[in-house]
Amino acid sequence: MCGIIGYIGDKNASPILVNGLKKLEYRGYDSSGIGIVSLSDGKLALRKAHGKIANLEKLIKSHPVPAGTVGISHTRWATHGAPNRVNAHPHADSSGKILIVHNGIIENYETLKNALKKKGHKFLSDTDTEVIAHLIESHYKGDLFLAVKKAIKELDGAFALGVICSDHPETLIAARVGSPLIIGLGKNENFIASDVPAILEHTRKIIYLKDGQIASIRKDKVSIFNFSGKSVIPKIDKVTFKVDSVAKQGYAHFMLKEVHEQADVLKQMFQRRLKGDSVVLEGLGLTDKQLKAVNNIIIVACGTAYHAGMVGRYIIEHLSSVPVSVDVSSEFRYRNPIVSKQTLVLAVSQSGETADTLAAVREAKAKGAKIISICNVVGSSLARESDGILYTHAGPEIGVASTKAYTAQLGMLYLLAIKLGFVHKRLAKTAIHKIIKDLKHIPALYNKILKNKSAIAAIAKKNSHFGCFLFLGRNINFPTALEGALKLKEISYIPAEGYAAGEMKHGPIALIDEYRAVVCIATESDTYEKMISNMQEIKSRKGKIIAIATEGDKTIAHHATHVVYVPKTNKLLTPFLAVLPLQLIAYFIAVKRGCDVDQPRNLAKSVTVE
Ligand code: BG6
Repeated sequence: MCGIIGYIGDKNASPILVNGLKKLEYRGYDSSGIGIVSLSDGKLALRKAHGKIANLEKLIKSHPVPAGTVGISHTRWATHGAPNRVNAHPHADSSGKILIVHNGIIENYETLKNALKKKGHKFLSDTDTEVIAHLIESHYKGDLFLAVKKAIKELDGAFALGVICSDHPETLIAARVGSPLIIGLGKNENFIASDVPAILEHTRKIIYLKDGQIASIRKDKVSIFNFSGKSVIPKIDKVTFKVDSVAKQGYAHFMLKEVHEQADVLKQMFQRRLKGDSVVLEGLGLTDKQLKAVNNIIIVACGTAYHAGMVGRYIIEHLSSVPVSVDVSSEFRYRNPIVSKQTLVLAVSQSGETADTLAAVREAKAKGAKIISICNVVGSSLARESDGILYTHAGPEIGVASTKAYTAQLGMLYLLAIKLGFVHKRLAKTAIHKIIKDLKHIPALYNKILKNKSAIAAIAKKNSHFGCFLFLGRNINFPTALEGALKLKEISYIPAEGYAAGEMKHGPIALIDEYRAVVCIATESDTYEKMISNMQEIKSRKGKIIAIATEGDKTIAHHATHVVYVPKTNKLLTPFLAVLPLQLIAYFIAVKRGCDVDQPRNLAKSVTVE
């Protein structure tokens, strides 16, 4: 997810572009750039910087952008090519006349790049995007619109594009498939942007470009066509909401927005990584033969990622019989871990910058282990120090309490488990087919749970007065209980503990009385009956129980004060569903208590020191 903005009009473009870009920084902030057609020499002028947009502003201060009335700008969330100045957008063609910004992923960029290289094109960056600029150039015979139209027909993947050309300072071209793009209508000026906040200070008249549409934009005219060239009369919307709310897309907090993005993140991951009944793990960096040689796995991670790792252990051992151990990174590095050449160390991290996990990886590497990382930030330190990298592509996660990155980590761990089960010949084709079918169904089930959000909010508010919570789960949902407790601790500051339910009688049951709330994950499972008896032990000691149960469970309500139902699914996949109500319960309790949900006290999105 990146942020794009474009301008064409009578005003000087660069300040408009930079101000608008800042309102899109939540979409990506690892590098940025701006490009305009200079009024003075009619040439393209380009400024690009690594890191936050503030760095671009600093650069422009020392190297001012010449005046120009047409321009495009971009803030990046790297997917292909590390975040640095060269890979930042805009990207030019080899003539230096055509400039583009892009949000999305071009799946067939390598094929296109090789074909263009054969025609003599030279590439400066590692991005998929630069290929588009050269592709447009290869079709350009003086008509920019036609060249873009021809080029986009060869693209496979998602794209929102902004294109300018120094030969045509009167034109800005925009096109989209998959990634969002809007056109803002002004007086003698028009805009393109990834999202409304970028241009709201200039206009509230918006056209939402649809998939498969391309627009030729002049300062006083916008013409829209579908990709086959048919003209389209667009619907013009009038937007009414406040700037801030839009960055959160109408959600009160980034955390709530990110909770709602989980279905899409998993859907895109499964679309990209599942081809029929085959798991395609681009970036893994290990052949099936090398994977088959792996005889033990150590997962290292911190915080929420550690809980994902714990679920990963259950599913990898269950599907592949490869033994797995899970370590908090800060412990791993000091316990003199036993690691051999057949050991695969799996590092899980949203940011890829967590110092403890980096140190654990360096320790394992020094002992000869192969390092595969599951990470959300492209080009992060962890990605650079790993032998293989599986990007979760969950987009920027702004809320400090991790949500969508967690379920994306689960998604990747399940895919890896299936792959290992396949190469270790532990999984029959029918079993692979079944679990893949059930996995693909998970995103739709998320939307079902979210429809029930207000009931979950009511339960949360009713229990927000409790001063201490216990979260209980068994087997593959024991880590889910740990994650539920962590979410509540992180954002509401209420003491909460996650426990394996079977451990209750060995200590924590001493805590149970009418002043305790206990969240029990009692979805359909082989340990369901055991979970029910734990709930009876709690109820008999007046503990207040919030149960997470499977739809259609007619008996659970007898054992609990409140029940949140999640849809029925494959027992192995319940961690995906059971965590969603836990994220929401923590969220609504924190909101009820007036906590700063997105930036809770004492926490950071990524701890880069030991
Ligand atoms: C903490 C974050 O700082 O680090 C948590 O607040 C996160 O949300 C943990 O789970 C680990 O971070 P990462 O980036 O390595 O997954």
